[in-house]
Amino acid sequence: MTQTQRILVTGATGTVGRQVVAELLDRGHEVRALTRDAAKAAFPAGVDVVEGDLNEPDGLAPALEGVTGLHLITFGGAAFSPLESGPRILELARSAGVRRVTVLHGGGPTPLEDAVRADEGVDWTVLMPVEFMANALEWADGIVTAGEVREPFVDRLSAMVHEGDIGAVAAVALTEEGHGGQEYVITGPEVLTVGDKVKTIAAAVGREITLVELTEEQALAQWRAAGLAEDVIGFLLMAYGDTPEVGRTVSGTVEKVTGRPARTFARWAADHADAFTRPS
Ligand SMILES: NC(=O)c1ccc[n+]([C@@H]2O[C@H](COP(=O)([O-])OP(=O)(O)OC[C@H]3O[C@@H](n4cnc5c(N)ncnc54)[C@H](OP(=O)(O)O)[C@@H]3O)[C@@H](O)[C@H]2O)c1
Repeated sequence: MTQTQRILVTGATGTVGRQVVAELLDRGHEVRALTRDAAKAAFPAGVDVVEGDLNEPDGLAPALEGVTGLHLITFGGAAFSPLESGPRILELARSAGVRRVTVLHGGGPTPLEDAVRADEGVDWTVLMPVEFMANALEWADGIVTAGEVREPFVDRLSAMVHEGDIGAVAAVALTEEGHGGQEYVITGPEVLTVGDKVKTIAAAVGREITLVELTEEQALAQWRAAGLAEDVIGFLLMAYGDTPEVGRTVSGTVEKVTGRPARTFARWAADHADAFTRPS
C-alpha cells in the first residue's frame, strides 16, 4: 500500500475522469475533482470538488495547492478542441509542487501533451487508450427501442478497453514510482468484431439483438443526420474502415501496470446492462 496522496483530476465528470476518481478513492487516496459547474456534477462522498476552466489556467492555482499528482485532458470544450493553455497549466503545476502527471491522449499532438512531454520537472505518463467500451452506449437507444444495432464495417476488429482499466492505470501512474516518461497503449484483453460485441450485450440483457450492416453511404448519411462534424466523420471512416494495428492488438498494459487482468467486454456489458434495457 502506497502512502495517501492528494491528486487533482481534470475531466473528472467525463467517461474516463470518473473512473480515475473512483480508482484513486479505491486505493485510499485523496481526490480533488475539477469541473466547470459543481452544481451539475455528482461525485462520490469524500471528493473535494473545485470549480475551474482549463481555458483559464491562472484560475487553477488554488486547485493545484497541496496536490502531488495531476490527471489532465488535452481538450477544453465542444468538439474536443485542443487546449492552448497546456504550457501555462504545467508551469503552475510545477510551482505548486506536482510531481506526477498523467495525460489522456486525444488522438494527435496538442500543445498540452507537447508541454507535458517536454517537462523534465515532473514524472509524466501519457495514457493512450484504444476504443472505449463505453462507445457501445451509442447503441443503447436502438437496442431498447428496436432490438437492433445499425453499423457499417461489422467485421472490423477492436481491442476495446473498459474505462475502469484506463482509470486504474492512471491511478497507479499518479501515485507509484516507475511510470515516468512512459507512453501506455491501454487495451482490453481480447479482440472483438461488432458482431461479437452485439452478441455479448444480448447475453448480458437476455434478449435477441439484430445486427444490421450499413453500407458506407448509409453510415455517412446516419452520421451526418446525427450532426457529426465532417472531420469526426473522416476519423470514424479511418478508425472503422481501416482500423490501425494498434487498435486491434492486445497490449497487456493493464495487467503489467495494475497487476490485475484487463476487464472483458462481457464484464462491461454486465456493468451497463441497465442502459440497454431501459429507455434513456
Ligand atoms: N471514445 C473513445 O473511444 C476514445 C478513445 C481514445 C481516446 N479518446 C479521447 O478521450 C478524450 C475524451 O475523454 P472522455 O470521453 O472521458 O470525455 P467526456 O466524457 O466527453 O468528458 C469531457 C470532460 O472534459 C471536461 N472539460 C471539457 N472542457 C473543459 C474545460 N474547458 N475546463 C475544464 N474541464 C473541461 C468536462 O468537465 P465539466 O463539463 O464537468 O466541466 C468533462 O469532465 C478525448 O481526448 C478523446 O480523443 C477517446
